[in-house]
Amino acid sequence: MLDQLNALKLEIEEAVAATKTVGELDDIEIKYLGRKGRLTSILKGLAEIDEATRPKVGAAANRIKQEAERIIAKGRVALQERSLSDLGEREREDVTEPGLRPPEGHLHLVTQAIREITAIFDRIGFTRTRYPEVDWDRYAFESLNMPADHPARDEWETFFMDAPTSKTNGRMVLTPHTSNAQVRELERGEFPVRMINIAKCYRRQSDATHVPMFHQFEGLYVDRGVSITHLRGVLDYFATSFFGPGRKTRLRPFHFRFTEPSFEIDVSCGVCGGTGLGADKQKCRVCKRGWLELGGAGMVHPNVLKAGNVDSKKYSGFAFGWGVERTYMMKEGMQIDDIRILYKNDVRFLKQF
Ligand code: PHE
Repeated sequence: MLDQLNALKLEIEEAVAATKTVGELDDIEIKYLGRKGRLTSILKGLAEIDEATRPKVGAAANRIKQEAERIIAKGRVALQERSLSDLGEREREDVTEPGLRPPEGHLHLVTQAIREITAIFDRIGFTRTRYPEVDWDRYAFESLNMPADHPARDEWETFFMDAPTSKTNGRMVLTPHTSNAQVRELERGEFPVRMINIAKCYRRQSDATHVPMFHQFEGLYVDRGVSITHLRGVLDYFATSFFGPGRKTRLRPFHFRFTEPSFEIDVSCGVCGGTGLGADKQKCRVCKRGWLELGGAGMVHPNVLKAGNVDSKKYSGFAFGWGVERTYMMKEGMQIDDIRILYKNDVRFLKQF
């Protein structure tokens, strides 16, 4: 029986030495020392051996059991230590490896355009202003030489606020253009006036080429002796700065109540160079006639100067107002079939800009 016990001890030693995981060690413990384990059952058999040798064999058996327990406990400590020292190897960090960039957004293309336009006008002394985007009828229409019920107002398909009417200022509207800033700026009474007002505009319109909320940038320059020549100079400066060198502007007669004379401003097409002809000698696909329409402009009407308490005998000026979205799309040569995509928050579209 003693031989049997010693052999078992050797077997346990070998088995423990060969284990690689704590799980394996647990299995060994159960196999030999568990309730139905091999060593346990030998110990149970002690009752059957004769009384003379029983104490000696019993003592030896208990000693071997304790040794077996110690061997397993030591094995367990060794395994735990090894797994700790492996940890460093398994989880080693390579500090030279390029990091993972967190997902990073960027500014909306309209915000980018607004910043660029602001910077371009800043260089020639035009200061960006901010005026209400919910304003009185007086600033949106009346002071711009458009009296109540004048049919010219129809063009600015206006949203009216459900708010009390003011005796002096009329109803409140969502600004249908940025021209409400003109008289507000003149009222400040500081000359020269060199304003670039960029703001949201609202009109009751929604189709492939219109959105109910869009942006305009409005320039206003008022001083002594300002003429159309100055307007032309600023237009050309903007066209070459924003669209690129070589781009020209053209003034086409038009009509606005708040400017006299009034113009529509065109910019020469960047694709055909203003010739209106494509490389194949057919009509240019982008502009068809050499020019792209930018928006309105003109010399400030004397009635508008008067509404802003400015003496039209001393001062004169020009104003222009163009859509930010339109102008930006002309720059990119973008031909999108539905302008509403700008405000659909579709990241697949937005992240291209
Ligand atoms: N406010 C005009 C529009 O919305 C544009 C414009 C501004 C025209 C200034 C002339 C002068 O169409």
